[in-house]
Amino acid sequence: MSFGNVFKRTLPWVQSPLIANAPMSGAALSELAIAVSRAGGLGQIGFLDDMHQLSNELQMARDKLQDLIATLPDPQVLPIGVGVIVFGSPMEAWMRLFKTHKPAVVWLSFAGANDIRQWTEAIRQASPKSQVWVQLGSVQAALEIVQACHPDALVLQGSDAGGHGHQDGASIVSLIPEVTDTLLHHGNGDIPLIAAGGIVDGRGTAAALALGASGVVMGTRFLSAPETRIPQIYRDAIFKASDGGQATARSRVFDEIWGPNFWPATYDGRCLRNRVYDQYASGMDIKKIRSWLASEMNGSGSESLDVHDMGSLWAGTGVGMVNSMQRAGDIVQTVRDVALKRIGSLAREE
Ligand SMILES: Cc1cc2nc3c(=O)[nH]c(=O)nc-3n(C[C@H](O)[C@H](O)[C@H](O)COP(=O)(O)O)c2cc1C
Repeated sequence: MSFGNVFKRTLPWVQSPLIANAPMSGAALSELAIAVSRAGGLGQIGFLDDMHQLSNELQMARDKLQDLIATLPDPQVLPIGVGVIVFGSPMEAWMRLFKTHKPAVVWLSFAGANDIRQWTEAIRQASPKSQVWVQLGSVQAALEIVQACHPDALVLQGSDAGGHGHQDGASIVSLIPEVTDTLLHHGNGDIPLIAAGGIVDGRGTAAALALGASGVVMGTRFLSAPETRIPQIYRDAIFKASDGGQATARSRVFDEIWGPNFWPATYDGRCLRNRVYDQYASGMDIKKIRSWLASEMNGSGSESLDVHDMGSLWAGTGVGMVNSMQRAGDIVQTVRDVALKRIGSLAREE
């Protein structure tokens, strides 16, 4: 199959089709990234505010992946990716980090074309062998960013995705083909597209490849892995959730629960649905919701809150199919095998 060949030179340890864990801030640390890269996927570490901690995680990944690194053409490049939430991040400090650790992929998200261009140019100076991937969620953003700086790949994030994303989004079913056509039309059909959002297994992966993606990124599916750093009650809530379009919701309220929302207006996020969301959707003022929540949490209220209500449990619409714990390496292998079988059997059908 040809889709994986796109990364043969740049990510030589990655098996086809490319499967990556999303760089989930605070949850995807070196343990997850190592397990995913070892299984022939692209392991990624998510954004951390604490650059010292992030540097330690990267060093840990290098130490523990010595045997894999020794098989690669360039032992300086660390065979994992690192996620940056661009808005509000200090560019110089990040460049020092990339220069030192040389991650195979730098994943940029949550910024407009101008900022992405500045970051891309700086990364290409600081760590020329790092691939720059940009996650975005609209056709317009794809075109603007490609024209501004021609990243090495685009991650097309559909509206089913868990975590933050474009407020006005489409699912990958229309996003991938429309971006493909638009980039082709503007002479930029050479950029690999990676699918994200609602993919949790080999079936979703096969579908994304059929739509024109060269690989997939999964966040929600990897919340089931013991290597992902989340509290067990979060993981249990993921396992319990079913009917993903009902069990999750997109809203900006998930960033407003404890105070002002610092996210740019373009973005909201998808979480497990909770009572805060239901109250907000029914028109209750956020200040009222906050004081209700505070009284429930300090014991002076009358209702009992559960884990969904007390925090924002980010999850995508695929959550209903994520039901049990599975090691990250096994996830990568199973998803890859099922996707390849699925594609093979579809190709044989008359
Ligand atoms: C818990 C969680 C944390 C996330 N954190 C980030 C992040 O820090 N940066 C980012 O670019 N995307 C983040 N995302 C979004 C993912 O990059 C990706 O688009 C999404 O997980 C794909 O959809 P899925 O969850 O249905 O697989 C996060 C997603 C989840 C579920």
